Amino acid sequence: MIDVPGYEIGGVLLTAEEIKKRVEELGKQISEDYKGESLMVIGILKGSFIFMADLMRAIDLDEVTMDFMSVSSYGNSTESSGVVRIKKDTDRSPEGQNILIVEDIIDSGMTMKYLRDEYFASKRTRSVKICTLLDKPSRRKADVEPDYCGFTVDDKFIVGYGLDYSERFRQLPHITYLIEKK
Ligand code: IMP
Ligand code: MG
Repeated sequence: MIDVPGYEIGGVLLTAEEIKKRVEELGKQISEDYKGESLMVIGILKGSFIFMADLMRAIDLDEVTMDFMSVSSYGNSTESSGVVRIKKDTDRSPEGQNILIVEDIIDSGMTMKYLRDEYFASKRTRSVKICTLLDKPSRRKADVEPDYCGFTVDDKFIVGYGLDYSERFRQLPHITYLIEKK
């Protein structure tokens, strides 16, 4: 049972079956859009790792590679400051590549804005697109829209299917949320 002080767990927002179906649709769309081209998929650790694993198996392209980055935003735990620190860079150079950034959730948009418009903008890539499992547009501060999005969610604190609260709940096969106790 869950025992997060001050919080209780909400109902299931997205079942494992709903997620699976949508991830397959995204994979199909990506495969069509990059047909005949090479693609370097870059997962942002750790939140994206389960989504990335399923998405990669739904992408049907001859020349597809995967890599990972780990970033952290300066500032407190619930609000992104927009200043992003690269904790782990890609192993291979993104130069000349079609890049697809895979993220778990876009909230303020600060992290994706920095990666797309500053970090990768200086790397002489061929193209940069963003694929996010979840989008929380109600909290957007930076001007960034995903090119591929699994689901739009309300302003709730989401956990499961890779997403965590203090490193917990990533293992849940479905997506749920935490409710602050009054
Ligand atoms: P942004 O820069 O504000 O868009 O921050 C996005 C990052 O914040 C995501 O990669 C997540 O790590 C984290 N995040 C934002 N909202 C949630 C949530 O509801 N649950 C879990 N993590 C979240
Ligand atoms: Mg994250």
